[in-house]
Amino acid sequence: MDQNELKKLVGEEASKWVKDGMTVGLGTGSTVKFMVDALARRIKNEHLSITGVVTSNATAEQANALNIPLKSVDEVAKIDLTIDGADEISRDFQGIKGGGAALLFEKIVAVNSRRNLWIVDQSKLSERLGSFPLPVEVIPYGSKKLFSKFAKKGYAPTFRLDNTGQLKYTDSNNLIIDLHLKEIEHPHTLAADLSNQVGVVEHGLFLDMVNTVIVGYPEGPKVLTA
Ligand code: A5P
Repeated sequence: MDQNELKKLVGEEASKWVKDGMTVGLGTGSTVKFMVDALARRIKNEHLSITGVVTSNATAEQANALNIPLKSVDEVAKIDLTIDGADEISRDFQGIKGGGAALLFEKIVAVNSRRNLWIVDQSKLSERLGSFPLPVEVIPYGSKKLFSKFAKKGYAPTFRLDNTGQLKYTDSNNLIIDLHLKEIEHPHTLAADLSNQVGVVEHGLFLDMVNTVIVGYPEGPKVLTA
């Protein structure tokens, strides 16, 4: 079974966690895409009343095409459950997100959700965070100065480029600097350091947000709880 098939099975499994009447945060990425497809099928077949809160323009486009009713995070009183992908998850359920450049809205939706559920294939699990480059969303103005500062700190930064080799702009017109850290010994200390830098909008460390992860294994999706 290839990675895509694992993602599909996990996405479909996660769609079953949505109950009638819920407001659901819809994450971003290829795994979530399968979940949104499956959720749209459930809404249609089971006549569910669901409101979605998206985390990116890409997910908004998909949800609109599938007629999933959407509201913005500011329009809803609460988000019952957010289902999102992740780029790396450590043994203690800390995560790196933002591989798809959607970390800012993903984090805003996550912190406003009663419950967050991550869905990944088995390749995303690791002992300790850091093998996936840590995305940091930065304001374009002064971003080269920040880049130099990160380099001096030994964070091994690179600017994210798009498919055409140009600087990648996020949905909020910011840039992404990826930090190639290899191993993150103290995620909370690093998160605080990054949040303290002027010009940093948000970083991709998602800490203490999730206690349930659905993981795709060849023998089937498995629910892991912290
Ligand atoms: C988007 O910015 C990310 O946080 C995604 O959730 C993450 O990259 C997972 O994506 P895939 O499901 O495509 O692997």
